[in-house]
Amino acid sequence: MKIFLDTADLSDIRWASQAGLIDGVTTNPTLLSKHAGDVDPQDVLQEICSLVDGPVSAEVVAVDADGMYGEGRELAKLADNIVVKIPMLEDGMLATRRLVADGVKVNVTLAFSSVQCLLAAKAGATYVSPFLGRLDDIGHDAMEIVREARQMFDNFGLETEILAASIRHPRHVAEAALIGADVATMPTAVLKKLLLHPLTDRGLDQFLNDWSKLVARAKVNA
Ligand code: E4P
Repeated sequence: MKIFLDTADLSDIRWASQAGLIDGVTTNPTLLSKHAGDVDPQDVLQEICSLVDGPVSAEVVAVDADGMYGEGRELAKLADNIVVKIPMLEDGMLATRRLVADGVKVNVTLAFSSVQCLLAAKAGATYVSPFLGRLDDIGHDAMEIVREARQMFDNFGLETEILAASIRHPRHVAEAALIGADVATMPTAVLKKLLLHPLTDRGLDQFLNDWSKLVARAKVNA
């Protein structure tokens, strides 16, 4: 499963990219608003694209087909690795189709059911993003939606990649991988949690303690 970082924080992206942990980045208007400060968001997106050797999702803010298409075309000019994020709307399907026909990659976002995922695939999206955490927040079984979408895409050989989004914790990542989501996009905090295990810390403490005892003994005997 590919891992994308769900942020517009340049230093986080730089770290994760240099560590070879991520295959791409997803942003949205909220994340850009949080991290861009007073910098032009298009400049931030270009910087992100230069930091990552992989797709970078950038979202349109228009909600009509012509507006989404026009914004999508402009976003796609920012860098070769831009993927245009289009919301799961009736007009979004029209805009997706037109952008795909122009050779622009699309990530259909804000998907909350398996049949929405199916329609995004029909429209030709490269990715569709079911939002797991937001579904869990309202008491739904988010993983069931990913499972159903996986089965549907496999039944009919649909090539759209399932991009598990709105990831809140490491179990979301593990379950998405087990079900066969193609990508999981997660905040930096979740990516860093994937690195952690208390037994790793305890084991390292013990190794370092034992090593300093050995060094102390060696000094005494010298
Ligand atoms: C996906 O591309 C979105 O940016 C993201 O995963 C939304 O997650 P949230 O529910 O944590 O805002």
